[in-house]
Formats: sequence, structure tokens, C-alpha cells
Amino acid sequence: MIIEPRMRGFICLTAHPKGCEQNVKNQIAYVKSKGAISGPKRVLVIGASTGFGLASRITSAFGSNAATIGVFFEKPAAPGKTATPGYYNTVAFENEAQKAGLYAKSINGDAFSKEVKRETLDLIKKDLGQIDLVIYSLASPVRLHPETGVLHRSVLKPIGQTFTNKTVDFHTGNVTQVSIEPANQEDIDNTVVVMGGEDWSMWMEQLKNENLLAEGALTLAYSYIGPEVTEAVYRKGTIGRAKDHLEATAFDITESLKSIHGKAYVSVNKALVTQASSAIPVIPLYISLLYKTMKAKGTHEGCIEQIQRLYSQRLFTGGDIPTDAQGRIRIDDWEMDDEIQNQVSKLWEVATTDNLPEIGDLQGYKQDFLNLFGFGFDGVDYLADTNEMVEVPSIKS
Ligand code: NAI
Repeated sequence: MIIEPRMRGFICLTAHPKGCEQNVKNQIAYVKSKGAISGPKRVLVIGASTGFGLASRITSAFGSNAATIGVFFEKPAAPGKTATPGYYNTVAFENEAQKAGLYAKSINGDAFSKEVKRETLDLIKKDLGQIDLVIYSLASPVRLHPETGVLHRSVLKPIGQTFTNKTVDFHTGNVTQVSIEPANQEDIDNTVVVMGGEDWSMWMEQLKNENLLAEGALTLAYSYIGPEVTEAVYRKGTIGRAKDHLEATAFDITESLKSIHGKAYVSVNKALVTQASSAIPVIPLYISLLYKTMKAKGTHEGCIEQIQRLYSQRLFTGGDIPTDAQGRIRIDDWEMDDEIQNQVSKLWEVATTDNLPEIGDLQGYKQDFLNLFGFGFDGVDYLADTNEMVEVPSIKS
């Protein structure tokens, strides 16, 4: 079929398998161009199909020659209906891994469930024996709790008072005011259940109990802090409470991994266009001003540049892992640089629909958004008849 982007709000209903393949190949080429990293050899990535998780899987495999198991929740294709991008990304990743002689297997299902945990643990037992690094990179709006059976929904709301600020519809470029009503306690609790650290610690507990973590194993989850303009809706909002919980969980996990000298960290990453971040009000406007400013300074990075730098300059340097006073790894340092932040807040004050194309990088935002779904890549013939029915080699049904 001929596959074109079909946009609905902050989602695209179609994905292009060849474009997703190109995206994965570009990321692999980037990692290879940066040279070998002496990282771990057996890596489990939970949330491995898009965004930071995919970049982590690629960096592990093609930077450190690691065997990888990837867990994610994606839809395969049906005749005439494309798969979700994460599914196509994984097809491409596994094909490239196979060509390079690297072990790569994937599990598609709900990582919060007991069944997917069981399946993953059994696969580790059978194929890899133990794991050296667990990356926890889930971004989900819902979690069906495996013990209580309750379906929790996360919300993106401020806490305490209504938040009013600018935002942009990145499709039209219209800058408008948005008002978001504050969350109630139930909203906060639900968001913490979905995006906090409970599921991460469940994974780690079970892996440890079944002796599937190697001596000195590391685990890492991703967090975000960001600037003052997004604080009310992000870091001091419901999602921020979940991130506080995730960050606190790292200390609990480190404590529970003491007997194997394992450690858990949270890495604070840069704001980037992903499926998860496009849905948060205010963030797209911030990102378009940030991109413009960081590109002008030559410090802009995408997911793969961030994770490659995280591995090569923070995690696997041979020395101690540097952290801030709260024990977090900071790879958002270039975003939070004073010069960048001062410039972005100046631009924020004056941003309007009329001047955004000039002072912000709306074009870069749109390009990145299209890229998430495999559209807008050089070297892909989007007019060609394309087979939508490709399958992930390790999970052929
Ligand atoms: P993403 O939406 O690109 O990736 C989410 C991944 O989770 C995908 O692989 C998806 O298949 C998987 N997933 C979702 N629900 C699942 C489920 N129930 N079972 C199994 N897999 C499931 O998201 P992104 O942006 O890469 O986020 C990953 C982490 O990075 C999140 O914790 C996010 O808060 C954090 N982060 C994101 C930033 C951003 O600007 N995008 C900035 C800093 C941190």
C-alpha cells in the first residue's frame, strides 16, 4: 500500500515501515560513528520500541555489542492497516542486530502485567542466564494494577491551582492561552501509580529473587525536571509527583540490590519530541523555543545523542557515575545551561502566532513529530508501494 501520514491531534494514525527502518538505521550509524563503549553485554530494556528506550537498546547493542531483550506494547499490522511505529522500529532493529550477529529478542505486551514479567524472566533464564543492565523507559497513560485489578489513569494537571499559560498547536502554529484545572488527590495518586516507581521495583525485585541479575548489575529509569515555565504542569504537577516517586524508588532498589552490589539510578534527560511529550500542554511551545536556541548554540541533541552521551560520558567511563545532590544523573545539563534557559524565557515572554515561525523551531518540531512515525526521512520513497505486513523476527506469530 501507499502509506501517508494521517494526523489526529497529537497522534498519527499511520506509520511507515521503511521510514521507521531509516530512523533506526540512522540511529545505529550515529552510535557506531561515536566508537565503542565498554558497557554491559546483557541488557533488558523495558519500553524498548520508541523514544529513549529505543535509543538505549540501540546504544547497548551497537555501542557495546550487547545482547538485548526488549519489552514494549505495540500493535502489529493488519492487512491495509499499518503497525504502530514502535513495532516497525523493532522489526528494523532486530534485522540490523541479526546482520551484526547480535542476540536480540522482543516481547510485545503489557509490562505492568504478571504474564509479561513471567515471559521475560523465562526468556532471560533460557537465553542469557543473567542481566547486567535494566533500562526502565515506560511512558504510559494507564496501568492495570497486577495485584488489585484496578485500572489507573495518569493525568497531566497542575496541583493546587488552575494553571494558565501559553501553548502552541504544532500542526497549525497557533499560539493560544491554555488553562488547566488543578488535580484532585485521586488524580495525583493515580498518576503516581502509573508513572511512579512501583512497577520498576516490582521488576527488579522479581529479577533479583530469581537470581537473574549479575553481580554489580545496574538499573536506570528516566526522569525530567525542566524550566520554570513548565513547572506548574510538569515538575510541580501530577507527573512531577510520579517522577518524585520514581526518583525515591531508585534508593529503595539500590538498597535491595546491596547483596549483589547492584545500583539503581535515575537519569534526568532533555525535553524531546516523543509520543509521550507531545501530549503535554505547554511543552510543545517550550520545546520549539528550546530547539531553536540549542540549535543556534550547536548543543541540540535527539534521543540517540542523549543516550549515547549518557552511556559514554556518565555510565561507562570506568570511573564513578557522577550525580547531582539528589543522586540523579544529569544529561539535561545542556538544556538547563543558564545561557540557554535565559534566552528561552525571554523568547517565551514575546512568543505569538505571528513570530513563532521566526523565533521558534516549529519546523524542527514538526519534522521530529513526523519522524516518530517514519515520515519525512531522506532516502525513503514514500510514493512506492510498501508492504505494511512486516513482522518482528523474534515474535512472528
Ligand atoms: P515513548 O512514548 O517514546 O516510549 C514509551 C515506551 O513504553 C514504548 O516503547 C512503549 O511501547 C512502551 N510502553 C508503554 N506502555 C507500555 C506497557 N503497558 N507495557 C510495555 N511497554 C509499554 O516515551 P519517551 O518519551 O521515550 O519516555 C520514556 C521515559 O523517558 C519516560 O519515563 C519519560 O517520562 C522519560 N522522559 C521523557 C522526556 C521527553 O521529553 N520525551 C524527557 C525526559 C524523560
